[in-house]
Amino acid sequence: MLLDNFKPELMNLTRSLWKDGYEISANLQVAQALEEAALQQFQVAVLGAAMAFAKTTGVDLSKKLRALYPEIRIIILVDRYPLQAALQGITQAVEFGLDDSILKPVDPSVLIFSINRAIEKFKLQGENARLLKELTESNDRLGQLNTFQSKFFAMVAHDIKNPLTAIKGYSEMLLRKLEDPKALQYCNTIVSSSKTLETLISDLVDLAAIQSGKLRINKQPMDFAQVMREVQSRVEIYAKQHDIQFSVKELPSIPPLVGDAQRLGQVLTNLCTNAVHYTPAKGSVTVSAEVTAKEISVSVQDTGIGISKEDLPKVFSRFFQTEKAQQMRKGGFGLGLTIAQEIVASHGGRMGVESELGKGSRFYFALPYGAGS
Ligand SMILES: Nc1ncnc2c1ncn2[C@@H]1O[C@H](COP(=O)(O)OP(=O)(O)OP(=O)(O)O)[C@@H](O)[C@H]1O
Ligand SMILES: [Mg+2]
Repeated sequence: MLLDNFKPELMNLTRSLWKDGYEISANLQVAQALEEAALQQFQVAVLGAAMAFAKTTGVDLSKKLRALYPEIRIIILVDRYPLQAALQGITQAVEFGLDDSILKPVDPSVLIFSINRAIEKFKLQGENARLLKELTESNDRLGQLNTFQSKFFAMVAHDIKNPLTAIKGYSEMLLRKLEDPKALQYCNTIVSSSKTLETLISDLVDLAAIQSGKLRINKQPMDFAQVMREVQSRVEIYAKQHDIQFSVKELPSIPPLVGDAQRLGQVLTNLCTNAVHYTPAKGSVTVSAEVTAKEISVSVQDTGIGISKEDLPKVFSRFFQTEKAQQMRKGGFGLGLTIAQEIVASHGGRMGVESELGKGSRFYFALPYGAGS
């Protein structure tokens, strides 16, 4: 929109802008310009009339235009004389944050340059607003999803875990009473299936707790060597079933540690069961521990399928499973390492992996001991 109360100037500028392909609304009067601005949303207003002699100052008019359409960009044309008025016009333009002020008489090419810049700004502003709106909307959706997810997990925790405990408990009891071999076999299946379900659900519940920052860690003085022996006795049976040679290297003397024995047992169990899962029959899994000046570090080495360089950084991410692992379908969610890493981190420790595709992997974690543990 162009406004200038000096007709020759208005005509001259209008012609130049037209030639350059702009759509223009040319106005001689302030009232007329405001009426136009109320009817349509201009990208840029060029105000040439209102500075020195008119009743409405450029800033007043700008305020009115912005009230009609806040996104409008504004350029004012300032009379060169009297000097005082010119200075005042420019100062006001700067203070009010207008896009540009150009001294009269206006060179059309200077004005076109300035208009182009203003239009660019107008478009960028629109793009920003659109992106912000999209971001806000997707944030809202994510928020809803998160709430839904937390509620869902909480529901899983209470509504599924309880009946499952009953199924497992009663079927274990039946196992001791039944004599018919077929019935015993069925009952065994019920027991082992309910154990698998229980592990899966526990992992989901742990993940929900991690996501809401409420994973329960109960730290007490503990004997880590004892934890290792307990895990060993459980994994040994499991490895044997899978025809994997499982061994634990002789343990060094392990200093006392403050930590959650059950949770740290869960970490080691996860690493050992992974090693057994992802190692073909006849392979081997070796656990060893080392004590340095500040840390106890435990490593689980296997001769299994290994992990490619590309996949290696992803294995600790929730729900991630390599393609090869998915083909082996062991019925896990891809949460074991996520949970293990969280538990180790909550003990101030660190966790890592080295692996070569087709050759095997070494997963390790290190826990600080002493005053800080
Ligand atoms: N010892 C290993 N050798 C090869 N790949 C492994 C090993 N340990 C983990 N992985 C890879 O990392 C992925 C993630 O392991 P993670 O323990 O988190 O999940 P998962 O074993 O698939 O399922 P679950 O939730 O039951 O543990 C596995 O699916 C597998 O692809
Ligand atoms: Mg696992």
